[in-house]
Amino acid sequence: MVLWVEKYRPSSFKDIIGQKESVDKLSAMVSKKEIQHMILSGPPGVGKTTSAVVLAKSLFGENMWSQNFIELNASDDRKLSVIQGKVKEFARTKPIDAPFKIILFDEADSLTQEAQQALRRMMEEYSGTCRFVFSVNYQNNIIEPIQSRCAILRFHPLTREDVFTFIRRIAKEEELDVDEQSMDALYYVSKGDLRALTNLLQSLSSVSKKITADVVYTQSGILDAGRIKEGLKKAVSGDYAGARKVFLEIMDSGVNIKELLASVFEIIVSSDDIVDRKFRSYVIEKLAETDYRVIEGATPFIQFQSFLAFLSTVKG
Ligand SMILES: Nc1ncnc2c1ncn2[C@@H]1O[C@H](COP(=O)(O)OP(=O)(O)OP(=O)(O)O)[C@@H](O)[C@H]1O
Ligand SMILES: [Mg+2]
Repeated sequence: MVLWVEKYRPSSFKDIIGQKESVDKLSAMVSKKEIQHMILSGPPGVGKTTSAVVLAKSLFGENMWSQNFIELNASDDRKLSVIQGKVKEFARTKPIDAPFKIILFDEADSLTQEAQQALRRMMEEYSGTCRFVFSVNYQNNIIEPIQSRCAILRFHPLTREDVFTFIRRIAKEEELDVDEQSMDALYYVSKGDLRALTNLLQSLSSVSKKITADVVYTQSGILDAGRIKEGLKKAVSGDYAGARKVFLEIMDSGVNIKELLASVFEIIVSSDDIVDRKFRSYVIEKLAETDYRVIEGATPFIQFQSFLAFLSTVKG
């Protein structure tokens, strides 16, 4: 089976979605053939490793790139001596048809301080033949002396538009039927992480070519915020029976009450259109009480209904 994360990994700058600022900087470096040491910083699955590989391919060409580029994964090669050995081995020989080679350190922010100090010395020792690229989720976990030697390129979670573009690309190729509602669901559950999104889409497609919002939420184990909002709005508008019906359905899909309460909490504090600010602390107090009673062993659904009944007495 071909993994879609590999099948749909962009192999040129033009295929990278979003990340315009970073992509522009990288392609400028390629055209000038001037590559700096770099930190690529940003959340998972947004194109950091992909961009580093595209950089190498564009700089060295399709046939030579793999000889002038290595990828070291910090979590696999935690032992400092292993890292040093690999860098030495790679940096020892001259680059082929290129001014220098590129070493990519994936997940570099999980390297110990000691390992980073050693790397910093290696950066200096091999700067004649190599450029170091660090891919990190948290730039602050990288020691200052390395940060100051690097150009910093920031990668961002992809926007809704970008995620839609990406889904359409896969859907067309794989002949999937994905409507706007399911694209929104995919965007919501993946939070802009295209790796997570691609894996989810591949596993859903093995069941059916038609992707629905419902199946996205059930498969990903994430609660459907839209449905929860709908239920809460009904309660606040005084429609207790309607709210009860929505939440019965949500709970029937096998939702864990603790997770449901946590989502209700998040939605109430983050949306202005559900509970008016002046009643909010009051509602949260009640939610906390429900949460407590459930842990203490009270029947979850009775407790949740009592919360809904309370909500339906509060003005929205
Ligand atoms: N900006 C993007 N444009 C197109 N595809 C992308 C983009 N970002 C990620 N992808 C897709 O997601 C997969 C994972 O991306 P990548 O390996 O670059 O993530 P990363 O940013 O390095 O994440 P991590 O921090 O977990 O290492 C790629 O194979 C590709 O299919
Ligand atoms: Mg990566």
